[in-house]
Amino acid sequence: MHDYVATALRERPWQAVPLEQPQPLEALPTPALVLDRAAFETNLTRMREHLAAHGKAARPHAKTHKCPIISHAQMQAGAVGICVAKVGEAVAHAAAGVQQILVTSPVTHPGKLSVLASVARQIDGLDLVVDSVVGAELLREHWPADARLGVLLDVDVQMGRTGNRSASTLRKIRNTLADDARFHCRGFQHYAGNLMHIPAYAERRERSLAAWELALALAAEAFDSAPEVVTGCGTGTFDIDVAVPAITDLQVGSYIFMDREYVEIEGHNSPTLNAFTPSLSVACTAISAPTEYGVTVDGGFKAFASDSVAPLPLDLPDAKFRFAGDEHGVVLRGKGDQEPLLGRVLSFMVPHCDPTVNLHDVYWVRDADGLVREIWPITARGAVW
Ligand SMILES: Cc1ncc(COP(=O)(O)O)c(C=O)c1O
Repeated sequence: MHDYVATALRERPWQAVPLEQPQPLEALPTPALVLDRAAFETNLTRMREHLAAHGKAARPHAKTHKCPIISHAQMQAGAVGICVAKVGEAVAHAAAGVQQILVTSPVTHPGKLSVLASVARQIDGLDLVVDSVVGAELLREHWPADARLGVLLDVDVQMGRTGNRSASTLRKIRNTLADDARFHCRGFQHYAGNLMHIPAYAERRERSLAAWELALALAAEAFDSAPEVVTGCGTGTFDIDVAVPAITDLQVGSYIFMDREYVEIEGHNSPTLNAFTPSLSVACTAISAPTEYGVTVDGGFKAFASDSVAPLPLDLPDAKFRFAGDEHGVVLRGKGDQEPLLGRVLSFMVPHCDPTVNLHDVYWVRDADGLVREIWPITARGAVW
């Protein structure tokens, strides 16, 4: 079963497709996910410079973009490896030649461990988090002798998603995998996703640093000496967690795209998180004007993530987007003649980048002159296993 979906993923295209002719937004099949190349590259550079200035490495999270072209760009910008949340994402990235991959969710299914072992044989370094003794024992039972695996303990403090909060259990996990040539326990992960979108910067800072203090105290009981890898953090704490000396690398994900959820939280000395530039939008076409209050566009739940805030209309500053079903959204603008908008292509900032990306097959990559010249496949799109 797992081999079937893994083989299908390995065969998916991942390389850039140049368009024969540069195209304006109006020529795209909407709803179309559009990546602004200049903003994307600026974000890569800003994160690289920021982390270098603090002596930290990047281990960017590819769950955000699911695109090996972007992972390769992040590696070229100095990352020590990429993170993935899912085994399928690891398969797609390994097939595209990404050599250092950390799986940030525990894996407890023998079928998935078997696929991961094939990834481990294929690339230079595969790491996996483990957060239970059962998980460690399953690894011992199912991991083949001819594959090497780096192991990171997953330390939870208060998020309650994955990870373990017991120092004695963390030590037991380590002991279960010690003295076994197949495994190398390299350190630990701590990710406080519950803190990333706290609107007030001061509160986010205080709570993130406090969580790291607790995580480090737990890890100190599990390890006899300083771990080689201490990884975690996200875009919301990119300039906060660098103050923690023990952290070796940051698993930042959303910074390359930004989204409405992130731009609306407070940054350091700024009312919005403006250290990075929004680079991702969805272009939709206005197709109907059933009332005098707004126009209907061709993007709804199947074009935008709908777990949080609404998409933000970028061309019509006072307008609001309201979901109107699977395929439609209504752009509310106030009373007036809406007919002139019909047929126009309108752009929307994505509400939440990761689940929005997972709804699309490709990025349409747009240059500074407004023209689209390349398509980048979202190779691991739908690889949610
Ligand atoms: C384990 C882990 N690390 C890092 C990230 C990246 O976070 P962000 O997109 O906020 O940068 C995520 C995102 O959910 C995550 O689950």
